[in-house]
Amino acid sequence: MRSIDWQDGHIVAIDQTRLPGELVLMEIHTVEDLVEAIKRLAIRGAPALGAAGALGAAIAVRDPGRRDKALDALRTARPTAVNLAWGVDQAMARHVDGPDAVLAAAIGVLDDDAVRNRALGERGADWLATRVQGPVVVQTHCNAGALACVEWGTALGVVRSLHERDRLGHVYVDETRPLLQGSRLTSWELTEMGIDHTVIVDSAAATVLARGLADAVVVGADRITANGDVVNKIGTYPLALAAQRAGRPFVVAAPESTIDLGLVSGDQVEIEVRDPDEVLAIGGLPGTATLNYAFDVTPADLVTVIVTENRVLRPELGERPA
Ligand code: MRU
Repeated sequence: MRSIDWQDGHIVAIDQTRLPGELVLMEIHTVEDLVEAIKRLAIRGAPALGAAGALGAAIAVRDPGRRDKALDALRTARPTAVNLAWGVDQAMARHVDGPDAVLAAAIGVLDDDAVRNRALGERGADWLATRVQGPVVVQTHCNAGALACVEWGTALGVVRSLHERDRLGHVYVDETRPLLQGSRLTSWELTEMGIDHTVIVDSAAATVLARGLADAVVVGADRITANGDVVNKIGTYPLALAAQRAGRPFVVAAPESTIDLGLVSGDQVEIEVRDPDEVLAIGGLPGTATLNYAFDVTPADLVTVIVTENRVLRPELGERPA
């Protein structure tokens, strides 16, 4: 099943805020409703945002009078993942050919996503399988699975490929405060796939690596800049520091569409700051000031490899996407 799709003239998507309790499908008919779903993270994860951007453009072009305003709201619904605006651009590249062509291009983005993820999953599994002897124990952060994409997943695509080869040992899942994409979504996906895993609190992540429990860290990305810096869910940077200290590879699995050659380095990326309530919801004092960064920047020299559908790059050795 796809996390986001097009059926009978509208978007159908899993409401990711309702998992793991219930699997609820949303029907989205307007760009306004799509923007709202993106803002509240009912649709989330960089490649899924790319698909949402493309399908949203197909809805926007039906109403030429409000098209530009709608596209602007869509592009800026969340600022950090490059895929959202990329998805809009992919579909709008066909707008001179009319609304049907925009929709066809959008559906092409969805179809492509699954193919690319499988390719990068295989490539990442190849890389790990030749470096780790025996079953590979992976540690991951946030959710970079099928839910965060259209199908298959990026970091979890690598995990799935290892599992298919009978080379997966275990998965340690950081819970990923404050919205718990790890303990809610990654754990749900791994359970559905019958993959053994253990959820840890984010503050245990360095200890798991220091104790030698995981062979490698594998994460997704929201934006990779021209110098190889990786922007991903808050907590990724400390995980990379811990991996380096523990001498474990830090693997980033992402499609080429996540690479933004328009930005030189990670410090140029807008980091989304979200609502204080997300931080204070569990035992916080209402009204307390928070600094709820949703993402962080892992410097290129901490990234062992970036695996895409086309290549394996080694930023720590100075290889750059550009
Ligand atoms: O705030 P989210 O849940 O949209 O953040 C998602 C992530 O940070 C993922 O790791 C990233 O988008 C890669 S998903 C394949």
